[in-house]
Amino acid sequence: MSDEWAIVERAFHAETARAYEGLFTLGSGYLHVRGSLEEHLADAPQNLEYTRLPADVTSEKFPETKAKWGTYVPGVFGRHPLLNAEMINLPWFLGLVPIVNGERLEVEKCRIEEYRRELRLDHATVKRRLRWRTKSGAAVLVEFERFVSGAHPHLCAQRMKLSADRAAEVRIEAAIDADVRTNGYDHCRRVKLRRMGTNGIACFVVIDGGDAIEMQTRVGAPGCEWRYVETPRAATLTADVKLTGGNDFIVEKRTVVATSRDLMVRSATDWMRQVEALSFEQLYAEHLEVWHKRWESCDVEVEGDQRSQLALRASLYHLLRAHVTNDDRVAIDAKGYAGEAYWGRYFWDSEMFLLPFYLYTDPPRARTLADFRVNTLGGARENAKRYGYDGARYAWESDAEGNECCPNWQYADHEVHVTADVAYGLAHYARGSLNDDYLSGSAAETLVETARYWMQRLDRRPGEDHPSLLGVMGPDEYTPISNNNAYTNRLVKFALQLAATVGEVGGASPEECQAFERAAEGLPIPRHEDGVLVWQCEGFDTLAEPRFEQLWHNRGRRFAEQVPRERLYRSKCLKQADVLMLMMLFPGEFSDAEVRRAWNYYEPLTTHDSSLSAGVHAIVACRLGLVEKAWEFLERSVGVDLDVEAGGASEGVHIANAGTIWQMAVFGFAGMRTAMQSDVLTFEPRLPAAWSRLAFPIAWKKGRVSVGITREQITVTNRGDATLRICVGGETHAIKAGQRQVWTLLGSDSQTP
Ligand code: BGC
Repeated sequence: MSDEWAIVERAFHAETARAYEGLFTLGSGYLHVRGSLEEHLADAPQNLEYTRLPADVTSEKFPETKAKWGTYVPGVFGRHPLLNAEMINLPWFLGLVPIVNGERLEVEKCRIEEYRRELRLDHATVKRRLRWRTKSGAAVLVEFERFVSGAHPHLCAQRMKLSADRAAEVRIEAAIDADVRTNGYDHCRRVKLRRMGTNGIACFVVIDGGDAIEMQTRVGAPGCEWRYVETPRAATLTADVKLTGGNDFIVEKRTVVATSRDLMVRSATDWMRQVEALSFEQLYAEHLEVWHKRWESCDVEVEGDQRSQLALRASLYHLLRAHVTNDDRVAIDAKGYAGEAYWGRYFWDSEMFLLPFYLYTDPPRARTLADFRVNTLGGARENAKRYGYDGARYAWESDAEGNECCPNWQYADHEVHVTADVAYGLAHYARGSLNDDYLSGSAAETLVETARYWMQRLDRRPGEDHPSLLGVMGPDEYTPISNNNAYTNRLVKFALQLAATVGEVGGASPEECQAFERAAEGLPIPRHEDGVLVWQCEGFDTLAEPRFEQLWHNRGRRFAEQVPRERLYRSKCLKQADVLMLMMLFPGEFSDAEVRRAWNYYEPLTTHDSSLSAGVHAIVACRLGLVEKAWEFLERSVGVDLDVEAGGASEGVHIANAGTIWQMAVFGFAGMRTAMQSDVLTFEPRLPAAWSRLAFPIAWKKGRVSVGITREQITVTNRGDATLRICVGGETHAIKAGQRQVWTLLGSDSQTP
């Protein structure tokens, strides 16, 4: 078994328990569960009530409990009294505990002689094996495994195998615990538990958002008689068995979840019935088959460096897990359904950092993300109205209805670029999937409505003959209220032009479309008087110097944790890529000299406090031939979730970072141009020194392609059924369906900016 497919926890440490919980999240799209230990930890109560305030999540501190349970069904939102709608943490169903000769398994307190837990990425399974020397002297081998079924997305299957070196009395407990909170808040309005038959528990919960949740657990073990114990918000099944020395004892636990917002209206009983006749092995085999197909569509192979290979696969695993197949009523929240830090809300991350991965590996998945925005036009219209505008204004932090939920005015009011990013995402889906009709369907109305919003949001300053976008926050959230942010203006120009093109189908008059076009033309991109340096916004150069040398004492921690926000806001320091993000998206519009100038100016001012920054920098660095720099950025991103000591995925997986890790490999080191950037599939590879080979599949405009890159050559196989045009080394070629072509790569990488 190769380590490039498994993330392994070799010993238990309370300090890293939360990070592993996030990292080991399992999910089927429909249902997600953090990787908590089946027996849980002592002194880690899950019903703590506390108040999160509208603080900046980037520098916010979370309550220091050792463990944080998390069970999430995308789209199940409730109302928080201060922080607006948030995704709900549902009852915890993983509890499965052995008590041997009166001693309860607790990894911190018991004598554990051997411990290994792993997330198998290819199998989407968490397995744990531990050898426990009980106080009674018995050595007990405990093996757990669990998966949230790819084939039956409402089901989580668990198994525990026990064997002891001598006879022992064992008690098994299997529970559902509904005494949980979401971000310290209790959203449950009603909880009802009951016994089901001899070996089941049913749990009904109604949450304040109005949805009803139904869970059912069934346990199975040979010869067990289960007793049922209920406390106000939890229910446990208990059985006593005798272990004979040397024999395995296996307990299975199956839990199914159904909610009132499910696409397919079935009760938990129906879901349970569907899997009743299937053995654990059969369920597992079906699950593996689904995951095998998923991996085939997207696996990125790297030779030469295990860590980046593992990080790529970990990223792909979470991207595959977090996407809800065929459900366009939800997108992917910023923590990839693995934590509550961002309240389960949807950001621009969706269009810019996630959609490309799905689009170029499994386009129907990108479609649901695009459709989500079209479906939430109603919410976007409401947002516009609330701000006093016509048209549609997409939320900086969206719930499943498209409502603005961000409790911080800086972002909610000013980070308006998301509305243009949505337009870019719709166009990207249409072009990448060769589905141009998409933009003349209901997406056209969405585009027109967003354009109408922009027309009212633009200002015309006295004495100027062009419109301006005033009072905006660009991607760099440390420059909160700025005028004519280059990124925002260019994206708005794109959105207005697109709306002008499809406007008439979307309900706009020809005059309106002309007005969109005129406004787009006039939006300025501020520049230095040398004409080469693009300013992030007007007056950027008049901000204070950031004084990193004096103020950023601990470079291992974010700048924002070490200075007050007031200083961030008045200084020339960037949280993340802004002008460089613009240049990454529109590479053809900026010369190498302009990109290099922007790199030299902005990169030293950038804190990379957001995990969305490194990927963009790596891709731009590759364009500039700064492959070593790009590599440094990749290394940074690789650790974001994998470095458990640094906190990693404690509060959820950084799913946009996962998306950029894929982008770094494909758009950066392989130098692929997106469908927004080129009509012809184009590669300009620059492998980092540590990689001897990079290989991946790409879905390109209804066709499929396999790409293999070494330092010397690039091999492209056309797996589609039409001739493929491809550009390598600046020359365009044609590859017939089913054929393979190899090109020798020439030239060396320049390292000087
Ligand atoms: C970043 C945003 C991002 C958000 C959610 C913030 O820290 O600055 O660009 O959308 O996190 O990932």
